[in-house]
Amino acid sequence: MAAYRHQRATGPATVLAIGKANPPTAFPQSEYPDFFFDITNCNDKTALKAKFARICKNSGINKRYFHCTAEILRANPCMCTYKEASLNVRQDIAIREVPRLAEKAAIKALEEWGQPRRQITHMVFATTSGVNMPGADLTLTRMLGLNPNVTRTMLYQQGCFGGATVMRVAKDLAENNKGARVLAVVSELTCVTFRAPHEEHLDNLVGSAIFGDGAAALVVGSDPVPELEKPQFEIHWSGETVLPESDGAIEGRLTEAGLIFHLLKDVPGLISRNTLPIFNKALEVAGSPSWNDIFWCVHPGGRAILDEVEKTLNLKVEKMMATREVLFDYGNMSGASVLFVLDQLRKRSAAMNACNTGEGCEWGLVVAFGPGLTVEVSVLKAIPTNSA
Ligand SMILES: CC(C)(COP(=O)(O)OP(=O)(O)OC[C@H]1O[C@@H](n2cnc3c(N)ncnc32)[C@H](O)[C@@H]1OP(=O)(O)O)[C@@H](O)C(=O)NCCC(=O)NCCS
Repeated sequence: MAAYRHQRATGPATVLAIGKANPPTAFPQSEYPDFFFDITNCNDKTALKAKFARICKNSGINKRYFHCTAEILRANPCMCTYKEASLNVRQDIAIREVPRLAEKAAIKALEEWGQPRRQITHMVFATTSGVNMPGADLTLTRMLGLNPNVTRTMLYQQGCFGGATVMRVAKDLAENNKGARVLAVVSELTCVTFRAPHEEHLDNLVGSAIFGDGAAALVVGSDPVPELEKPQFEIHWSGETVLPESDGAIEGRLTEAGLIFHLLKDVPGLISRNTLPIFNKALEVAGSPSWNDIFWCVHPGGRAILDEVEKTLNLKVEKMMATREVLFDYGNMSGASVLFVLDQLRKRSAAMNACNTGEGCEWGLVVAFGPGLTVEVSVLKAIPTNSA
C-alpha cells in the first residue's frame, strides 16, 4: 500500500461539536425601521420607510443581533450616510470584533468537544467582514492559545455560503490527515455593509432588513475516539456548483464606502429553478431517498427563497422548520447561519425525542448559497440518539 494511505483517516469526517455566538444587543424587527431611519437621519423618506417596514414585516424575522449599537453608530456618522467614505472605520471594527465573536463561538465548540485544545491540528476560518493580514485566523489562534503549528486556511469574502465551505474544507482535511481535529469557524458582522437607505439602491434596503451578526464554530474529525468524543453528524459528501444564468445575481465590492452588495430580485427563482441537479447528485450518495425522507439544513438567506425551494420540491412544512426558526431568531447571518441551523436541527431532534440527530431521518442535506450564484451542498448522516 502506498505510504500516503497510512496518513489518511479510516472513516468519514464527523461533526464533533457546534458552538455559536452573537453580540449582546438584539433589535426587535418590529422596531428596526424606526431605529434605522432615525440613526441615518432619513425620516423624511416616508415612502422608502414604509416600504422598508413592509419588507421587515414580511421577512420571517423576529429579531437580529448587531455589534453596531446606536452608540457606536453615532460615534461613527460616516457609516450612517449613503456611500460616504468609511472603510477605515469599518475595518477597525471588523479586524477587532470578527475574531472576538469567533472566539466566543469557538470556546463553546471546544468545551462541548471536551478534549485538550492542543489536539486541534487545523483551522478553517471564513468571514465576509473586513480583510487584514495576517488574518482573523491567526488572531483567533492566539486568542485561544492554540498550538502555533496549527495549519490555517483563511477564506475572505465567501458571503453566505461560507459556513458550508468551511464544513467542506474541514471534511477534506479531517479525512486526509489521520488524527486531524479541525476547528472550522465563520464570523460575520454587518459593520461592513450598514449604510443609510437610498431609493437608487433597493437591494441594499432588502439587505438592511434581513442581515444580522453571528459566529459559529465546528470541531470536525474522523474516527472519533469512543467514550471521549461524541459525533453529531457524519459528513459523507460535499460539492459546489455555480448556477446557470446567475452572473451578478449576488455580488459585492469592497469600496471606500464599505462592502457594497447587489442582490437581484430573482435570487429566489434562480435558486429554486436551478438547484435540482446538485440536489439529485447529492442524494445519490444517500441512496436517493425522497425529498421528504431526509432532513434539511438550509441557509436562511431570505423568506422568499425558503418558500420557493419548499414549493418546488413539495417539501412538508416541518422540513424547513429548523431553518425558519434560525431566520426568525437571528435573521440572515451570512456564512454563520447554516451552522446555526445545524445546531437547531440536533436540538429539535432532542426536543422531539427523535431516534437520531436528524429529526428521525437517516440522511440530510446542508445547503448554502451566495455570490456566484454559488451553491454548496453537503450530505450528512445523522447519528443515532443513544450514541450522539
Ligand atoms: C426580502 C423578502 C423577505 C421580502 O419579501 P416580501 O416583502 O414578501 O415581498 P417581495 O419579494 O415582493 O419584496 C418586497 C419589495 O422589495 C422589493 N425587492 C425584493 N427583493 C429585491 C431586490 N433584490 N432588489 C430590489 N428590490 C427588491 C420588491 O420589488 C418589493 O417591492 P414593492 O413592494 O415596491 O413591490 C424577500 O424578497 C426575500 O426573501 N428575498 C430574498 C433575499 C435574498 O436575495 N437573499 C439572498 C442573500 S444570500
